[in-house]
Amino acid sequence: MKCFLFCLLAIGLVSASANYITNYNYYRLPAALRPQKYYLRILTTLENPKNLSFSGNVNIIIEALENTRNITLHSKNLYIHEPQIRLRHIRGVDKKDNCVTSTSVNPSYDFLILHTCNELVAGNIYKLSLTFSAELNRQLDGYYRTSYTDPVANLTRWLSVTQFEPAAARKAFPCFDEPGYKAPFVITLGYHKNYTGLSNMPVKEIKPHEIHPHYVWCEFEESVPMSTYLVAYSVNSFSHKSSTLPNGTHFRTWARPNAIDQCDFAAEFGPKVLKFYEQLFGTKFPLPKLDQIALPDFNAGAMENWGLVTYRETNLLFLAGHSSLVDKQELANVIAHELAHQWFGNLVTMKWWTDLWLNEGFATYVATLGVEDIHPEWHSKDKSSLAVLRGSFSVDALVSSHPISRPIHKVSEMEESFDSISYQKGSSVLRMMHLFLGEESFRSGLKSYLERFSYKNAEQDNLWEALTQAAHKHGALPRNYEIKTIMDSWTLQTGYPLLNVSRDYKSRTAELSQERYLRNSQLPKEYRAGCWWLPLSYTSQAELDFISTAPKDWMECSRNGERLPKTIQDLPGPDQWVIFNTQLSSFCRVNYDARNWNLLIATLNSEDFRSIHVINRAQLVDDILYLAWTGEQDYEIALKLTDYLQRERELIPWRSAFDNIRVLNRILRQTSNFGYFKTYMNKLLTPLYKHFDGLNDTFSSIQDQDQVLLKTLVVNSACQYHVSDCVTRAKSYFRRWRREPNPDEINPIPINLRSTVYCAAIRYGTEEDWDFLWNRYEQSNVGSEKRTILSTLGCSREVWILQRYLERAFDEKGAIRKQDSVQAFHAVALGQVGHLLAKKYLMDNIDSIYRYYHPQVKSISKLFGTFSEQVITLRDLNGFRAFVNNSRHLLKDIQQGVKQTLETMLTNVQWVDRNYDQFSRSIQQHLQIVRL
Ligand code: BES
Ligand code: ZN
Repeated sequence: MKCFLFCLLAIGLVSASANYITNYNYYRLPAALRPQKYYLRILTTLENPKNLSFSGNVNIIIEALENTRNITLHSKNLYIHEPQIRLRHIRGVDKKDNCVTSTSVNPSYDFLILHTCNELVAGNIYKLSLTFSAELNRQLDGYYRTSYTDPVANLTRWLSVTQFEPAAARKAFPCFDEPGYKAPFVITLGYHKNYTGLSNMPVKEIKPHEIHPHYVWCEFEESVPMSTYLVAYSVNSFSHKSSTLPNGTHFRTWARPNAIDQCDFAAEFGPKVLKFYEQLFGTKFPLPKLDQIALPDFNAGAMENWGLVTYRETNLLFLAGHSSLVDKQELANVIAHELAHQWFGNLVTMKWWTDLWLNEGFATYVATLGVEDIHPEWHSKDKSSLAVLRGSFSVDALVSSHPISRPIHKVSEMEESFDSISYQKGSSVLRMMHLFLGEESFRSGLKSYLERFSYKNAEQDNLWEALTQAAHKHGALPRNYEIKTIMDSWTLQTGYPLLNVSRDYKSRTAELSQERYLRNSQLPKEYRAGCWWLPLSYTSQAELDFISTAPKDWMECSRNGERLPKTIQDLPGPDQWVIFNTQLSSFCRVNYDARNWNLLIATLNSEDFRSIHVINRAQLVDDILYLAWTGEQDYEIALKLTDYLQRERELIPWRSAFDNIRVLNRILRQTSNFGYFKTYMNKLLTPLYKHFDGLNDTFSSIQDQDQVLLKTLVVNSACQYHVSDCVTRAKSYFRRWRREPNPDEINPIPINLRSTVYCAAIRYGTEEDWDFLWNRYEQSNVGSEKRTILSTLGCSREVWILQRYLERAFDEKGAIRKQDSVQAFHAVALGQVGHLLAKKYLMDNIDSIYRYYHPQVKSISKLFGTFSEQVITLRDLNGFRAFVNNSRHLLKDIQQGVKQTLETMLTNVQWVDRNYDQFSRSIQQHLQIVRL
């Protein structure tokens, strides 16, 4: 009976006594009350796997700002012990004591409403005490459970941890769960004495539990004022590594005992990057300690909880010989990102989720500066500037994109906001601002913003104001310009401009115009409206100044946001190119007249190609391939330009090329003319494949780390397009591994080639090869290694093997954790054969997939995303539309992702209609010309 009651309550009822649904139906908490402090006690039981649960008590000190007869706060899936609710008046003139008469709920907004005996009077302080309990859930948010195998004892070990952003603190304790309600927290954790308790702050004292003999109460120091989504705690039996720098914050890195040897890199990198930020922002990290912890199950990539940063294992753990250079760089970036949040997000927090980008865009941008400082040899700044730009350019060219800053009413909208617009477009526009303001104004503006809003909340206008003041002070912006006017055009409008440059070669001028760039080419002109304030940087073949990125001029908008004409004077003569947007200092694409394109192409295809800055070479590749895609240029020009890649030996332009080629490949491989494309790819890749000595292990002789990455990328494509001996060599590496008596210990395949080798071996291999790799997956103790295997197991072309793999991906009891299921699905869905299979699997099983992920439905959106590049016929598109329509009740919380998928599919269909014949002709001609 007890369990029956408990289970019933844990699934969502607030309490046994009658709660009625309230008529308060607004998405925000009423402004009448403000929490001043939380005292939170949580007792966690982990000993019995059949009863993993917690119970707690929260005392909230509440200030009444207005008179009110109720206390409205958030609570979800918690059993509230109603008879134990207490309300006391503790300070102020209101002499009446108080109590709670009844409760009601609004499940749409997770509100718990406590109706009080007497009115709470403005200016008075009250203490509310609530007792509650729940199961430690399996859904990876709120306060949840996770487990791992302890190989020494051969036992499953359980641990508990929180994930609250954006709106799951309410699933762990009743609270005012909005970012604006900052308050200090005094947290006390109760647990069996064999465990360790961690929270945002250091331990204050540990005392024996008054009733349970083997339990302790661990009290943590009072925190600084913070938003509820940053509260964190965990009960575990992990090991740790300390790595405090002299005079630095006490720094520890935590992992399962069996993975503690994988913490070295993170332990060393973390404190360094923290120190870098202290210098950059001119403020010390305000807490006495910082813990970072690697969790066996984690839905996001990592989370910036103040003083207790949580990670997926792949994003914190690194083991030489098992993890690659790409893995290392990615994890450095993740750590740098989360530690940047300690200032942007934690110290100064957005007022409301509308400005989530202030958190995520900043952390994304600033992380690149942090990584650059500590590992300059990785060129993180240049690489990320392009990667984030490309990431945002593709989504933001959809009509179904959205402004960086936008209204948020529901939790599902908050969750959907963690997308490439907040992260990547946010980061790109901040970079643009950094470049047009210059170092001094940018830094001093940020510093005064951080000082002014420390422990408070801010919105973008507050930042604009601080930066305008700094810019005017340092003369970085004309007096009549305001950052707000400029930046509103980027954050409040959807999309980005295509800058058209039309030169008059006689008068040495150029007419500039802008319009919104869209992937859907059949939309009426109105869709291309909009005006963006564009800082203009440009150089010419004679000048070759790619270094100064300060704007030479501005493309302005009128007061009511209309475009204004712009002419540029004093350009060079007719035989010299000009290039706009040096080092991508503006967030735009550029199109030129044919003559200028041809001049650029001539230089690119000459010995002098390096005279164009590497970032601009990368961007020219990206721009021309996009412009050809949407019909603004033709493929003959595009192919002439990409021909230059045979000379290119730098990573960034090749990344641009590969990203675009991947998209073309996914369409063309379904068509009869794919053979020509393959030949073209062979032509581009062969010189590079030779240059890097194919699959030979030359890595130790490569000094430049970018060259290691480029070799990795090139051989990967080479095997995909059957260049030279790539596949044969890959298969022989794999055979050697299979012959090893102890393959989990000894792997003869060079670490940076593993992904390529596994994929080729699985694609052309046998059932035994697949099973061998699957066994390695099950045996591996290293997250990044597991990730590599998971994504290459999908390379098979055997239908039954892929089908079995899909079923394993969604098997709750199987070896693939829920957090990794999307990756396994992707691995299948991105394959040539797997794509149809995965699509059918998704369509046939959408109900069970929904149940599997619920309430983390965002993962379903990620499954959908895979098909956006591969549906290319109207018939298939309509099939997908019908499926979406029939499943709309399941997809209502991921509407944005679904719309974007459908729109991308439509643009593929358009591409085939408009470009396929032209592309096929151009590529054939191109191959003939080159052969002659
Ligand atoms: N604040 C986010 C974590 C998060 C993501 C919470 C989504 C809720 C929903 C964190 O700072 C973050 O951005 N994590 C990234 C990794 C990062 C390096 C890009 C993530 O989880 O993917
Ligand atoms: Zn983040």
